Amino acid sequence: MARVAIVTGGTRGIGEAICLALQEAGVTVIANYGGDDKKAAEFTARTGIEAIKWNVADHQACLDAVAKVEAEHGQVDIIVNNAGITRDGTLLKMTYEMWREVIDVNLGGCFNMAKAAFPGMRKRGFGRIVNIGSINGQAGQYGQVNYAAAKSGIHGFTKALAQEGAKFNVTVNAIAPGYIDTDMVAAVPADVLEKIVAKIPAGRLGQASEIARGVVFLTGDTAGFVTGSTLSINGGQHMY
Ligand code: CAA
Repeated sequence: MARVAIVTGGTRGIGEAICLALQEAGVTVIANYGGDDKKAAEFTARTGIEAIKWNVADHQACLDAVAKVEAEHGQVDIIVNNAGITRDGTLLKMTYEMWREVIDVNLGGCFNMAKAAFPGMRKRGFGRIVNIGSINGQAGQYGQVNYAAAKSGIHGFTKALAQEGAKFNVTVNAIAPGYIDTDMVAAVPADVLEKIVAKIPAGRLGQASEIARGVVFLTGDTAGFVTGSTLSINGGQHMY
């Protein structure tokens, strides 16, 4: 039977590429999305992948969504915690709301989805959780105390949960993307982005598909001995 995956923030950007790559690997994929219904409908029409709307920052909504997918598909084998937002600004300009929103979505979402899916994975003796961190969680980034803290938290979360899952064949790993050619990075002011790209040894932004390849590897049946690791995919920008 095909493995069943939920990819949060799965209808756009890196999430969309992850959905497509998992689908190509023979996995039954369900994409979560939080905002744009029209884009999600287009995504489903284009890919045939079901898209379900809920807010990953909402604990109960995550529990309900995972239970629904388990009821419909029999199991959830793979969770990719990809949903993430930015609310950039220097600390002086950052409001409490900008801080909270980013922590609740980017880090809280990982807890909520793992809390929902981990018990079933543990019981069935198979699970693959991949959390999408960031180079900016590893190295910090000017104007991102919220995002860097959340992403850094993801890396700690990954290493702790990996220890709890290991003996049940539930692996928990992180990918730390660098600057990838997505809407999120396109929102960085052009002059700032130019300076960032100048510091990437590969001399270019990454492609979403280059992150997706890592997810396919980490979620595969044969990757059972890889757990608690962080795969940095950043064109050499930060070697951690
Ligand atoms: N290091 C040191 N100083 C810096 C700096 C840096 N990296 N960036 C800016 N500054 C300085 C500026 O030179 C300026 O100094 P002066 O006032 O002395 O001239 C001061 O900080 C203010 O800079 P800005 O005019 O840029 O300030 P702003 O308030 O208009 O904007 C900002 C600040 C929102 C942080 C803006 O610089 C910005 O958007 N930066 C990009 C942040 C970023 O990389 N976000 C990543 C988004 S993508 C992502 O997060 C995905 C992922 O995982 C990689």
